[in-house]
Amino acid sequence: MIWVKRFLILLLIALIGIQFIRPERNEDSYESLEPFLAETKPSEQVAAILKTACYDCHSNQTQYPWYAEVAPVSFWLSDHIQEGKHHLNFSAWQGYSAKRKDDKLDELIEEVTDGEMPLESYTLIHQDAHLTRAQTDAMITWAKTARIIYSLKADLPQ
Ligand code: HEC
Repeated sequence: MIWVKRFLILLLIALIGIQFIRPERNEDSYESLEPFLAETKPSEQVAAILKTACYDCHSNQTQYPWYAEVAPVSFWLSDHIQEGKHHLNFSAWQGYSAKRKDDKLDELIEEVTDGEMPLESYTLIHQDAHLTRAQTDAMITWAKTARIIYSLKADLPQ
């Protein structure tokens, strides 16, 4: 059984070793979200939902739980954040064209309606991010209203 012991010791060393590799943190200031908020004007309720359920993966402002410090969880979270931001980043809203904004809000309505967002792996831990029917409806109404302006702008020559 000596090899089992050796294997466990090696595993422990590896686990300690990877703690020194830290993925870059996604913690810009909330100011980066201002252009998005100013343009789409979410109600207080919707703004709160975005904050608790979406910004962790779709903005430059992640609120990290303590276990996010621990590798390999930290790598896994970092991956989700990078992928979420790649698809949709509310902190980068200013750089999107009117058409892109319209498309993203269209996608948002679809994802929220189908219960695809926030990701299930996220709501398992963040219970408060689980959207109720009323919260889903509020998100959809807000996104539909914001889309009206973008779809008009998208039709005009830029
Ligand atoms: C745990 C991270 C995480 C959270 C929290 C999260 N998302 Fe996502 N989201 C992702 C990832 C990863 C993708 C890309 C892969 C996919 O579509 O499943 C994505 C994709 C999307 C897309 C599709 C964008 C496109 O153009 O393809 C929309 C829209 C979206 N999310 C909206 C939301 C909204 C709204 C919330 C909050 C109610 C939310 N997400 C919460 C990680 C997350």
